[in-house]
Amino acid sequence: MGFDLLKGKRGIIFGALNDMSIAWKVAERAYEEGARFTLSNTPVACRMGEVVELGKKCEAEIIPADATNVADLENVFQKSMDVLGGKVDFVLHSIGMSLNVRKKRVYHDLDYNYLTKTLDISAISFHKMLQVAFKMDAVSEWGSVLGLSYVAAQRTFYGYNDMADAKALLESIGRSFGYIYGRERKVRVNTISQSPTVTTAGSGVKGIDGLIDFSDRMSPLGNADAADCADYCLTMFSDLTRKVTMQNLFHDGGFSNVGMSLRAMTQYNKSFDTDDIETKY
Ligand SMILES: NC(=O)c1ccc[n+]([C@@H]2O[C@H](COP(=O)([O-])OP(=O)(O)OC[C@H]3O[C@@H](n4cnc5c(N)ncnc54)[C@H](O)[C@@H]3O)[C@@H](O)[C@H]2O)c1
Repeated sequence: MGFDLLKGKRGIIFGALNDMSIAWKVAERAYEEGARFTLSNTPVACRMGEVVELGKKCEAEIIPADATNVADLENVFQKSMDVLGGKVDFVLHSIGMSLNVRKKRVYHDLDYNYLTKTLDISAISFHKMLQVAFKMDAVSEWGSVLGLSYVAAQRTFYGYNDMADAKALLESIGRSFGYIYGRERKVRVNTISQSPTVTTAGSGVKGIDGLIDFSDRMSPLGNADAADCADYCLTMFSDLTRKVTMQNLFHDGGFSNVGMSLRAMTQYNKSFDTDDIETKY
């Protein structure tokens, strides 16, 4: 059920790959809430077909772009304004990829060419997007730009690898650009730090099933899934959050503020018998 939260708003959604993608859920919900938007992903992802299906469902034009390529991004913003009939009110950056993770290079044996790509695709593309939008004056006053992050930006998570560095940079770009965009044009820039979620990118993280279970047990409200994340994104795009900017907003069922929970401790203790605990501690 929609609440017309985004009625009359125009936007651009980057990163919907398939129906597990967080961006896919955001697109479906934004459509329900009355928004009109364009979709963008890499040329390969756009050719694969599933994005085409989403475009039809949401009456959204698909504009291919490599988010690391400034000319591609300029094209997305220009075409979006042409198709939608004016400046956009919201932009979602839902993009992440690490070749080190994909090729199973561990953090103390990184390939630096891969690292450069990780940072460019997963973080610097956020800056490129913001800079292109700013220079083209493509976002309306009180518009809202969001990137998606993970708590590995603040704390070390086994297996998250160089994506942790990318997320730290992404959040920093959100703050730094958020200051300028707010000051100059009254545009909001935030990142949402989301629970581990079952998606194509999420599945690449080493030990993701264990991480999802652990994080669920640690969170008093349980993990937030992709649909929950979409709802949060919509409120951040809506006029109800006009004074929120330069923030990294945790959307994780409380995980980020828990040191140890009853459910996690109970599961942890199952791995020891009483003697083990006495001898080890
Ligand atoms: N899944 C999780 O556990 C989780 C948790 C927290 C944050 N996030 C973040 O959410 C965002 C979306 O990821 P997801 O989990 O929905 O996975 P996903 O695999 O569905 O989305 C990642 C998207 O990035 C796109 N992409 C990769 N390289 C690109 C490039 N050069 N140009 C343009 N697009 C490119 C992919 O095509 C894909 O659509 C990412 O930033 C991810 O790090 C995910």
